[in-house]
Amino acid sequence: MKVKVLIADKFPEAYIEQLKNLDLEVIYSPKLGEKDLPEAAKEVDILVVRSTIVNAETINSSSSLNLIIRAGAGVNNINISAANQKGVYVANCPGMNSVAVAELAIGLMVSLDRRIPDTVIDFRSGKWNKAEYSKAEGLKGKNLGIIGVGNIGKEVAKRALAFEMNVYGKDISRIEGVAIKDFSEMDQILPICDIVTIHLPLTPQTRGLFNKEMFGFMKPNALLINTARTEIIDENALIEAIKEKNLRVALDVFKDEPEGKAGEVKSPLQSIPNVYVTHHIGASTEQAQNAVAEETVRIIRDYVTSGIIAHWVNRAKISDAHYQLVVKHYDRPGVLAAILAIIREGNINIEEIENIIFEGGVVACCTMKLRTAATAEMLKKMRENPNVLSISHVAV
Ligand code: 3PG
Repeated sequence: MKVKVLIADKFPEAYIEQLKNLDLEVIYSPKLGEKDLPEAAKEVDILVVRSTIVNAETINSSSSLNLIIRAGAGVNNINISAANQKGVYVANCPGMNSVAVAELAIGLMVSLDRRIPDTVIDFRSGKWNKAEYSKAEGLKGKNLGIIGVGNIGKEVAKRALAFEMNVYGKDISRIEGVAIKDFSEMDQILPICDIVTIHLPLTPQTRGLFNKEMFGFMKPNALLINTARTEIIDENALIEAIKEKNLRVALDVFKDEPEGKAGEVKSPLQSIPNVYVTHHIGASTEQAQNAVAEETVRIIRDYVTSGIIAHWVNRAKISDAHYQLVVKHYDRPGVLAAILAIIREGNINIEEIENIIFEGGVVACCTMKLRTAATAEMLKKMRENPNVLSISHVAV
């Protein structure tokens, strides 16, 4: 039976063809929404989504689902804890759309400074106002705070330096001429920044980070750009700060963003002249979409041909393993079973295990991460096995 792949979001045609050439059954349903997925993904092995929400029901109603790929960077639209409970792999495509998001962030900075959207709206409605729109300050020499200097933040930094801005952020020591400030020092970065741009993933630590207190640190008349995730900003606190500090704000993400690709939109931000909102298009350039699609195909190809999951995001980062046992042994039937029997007798849980083989197929090496220590007696028993070449047991 062929491996079944469901692509539940927009995906370039050429890459769908590449997947079909891998001899997979590919179902392309770009219009599916959160509510449709539990039924649609029931019998698939691999689910590919962009921003469509993959909830616990989708994950729990499928017995075959083994891999969910986020064709993009942020995985906050996937219920990772439900995936963890069922052993479903979640992977993403980090860095593939960073340039696109950075380009939009820079575009929004220029837009805010020059009020480009307002000039266009006025022109379209027959108004000419060169006097008003000649009041821009310019970006050169301004202090830019990049909040979150990962793949996207670094691309923003490079472009901002070309604009001759003073760039502040976290972990950007490798970019020449950039002052370094730590994320933990928000109370020091925000008061000096004329422009603040957010490039953080949504995590429990970043949710609601931009609250009343943070806005309190910001300079009056500062520009704020959010092309990351809406939940990082407390929208009510933002609206207050706009009034109190005359902040000018550009958002590519906002509260209650519509799920579909077209339709009506309603937001309290629509009536605030200081706010520009774009349609969550940060990652949506052809270049970025192709790069993301190429990476998605690569992840699927690797998975079906070798079982390896690239960019696997829900692998445990911290395990309960406190000891490492390495057994070098002749690659013969029953050797590992005998070692595992000793470990079982000692009632020790193996957290992780990997058995690799030397060229020629004579000797193999098994590395196990153990929750508790093996006793001297157990190690002695293992060493007595004539098929065991060496044993090492260390605390990790
Ligand atoms: C991402 O996390 O990659 C971006 O938010 C892109 O979202 P999109 O694929 O829905 O445009």
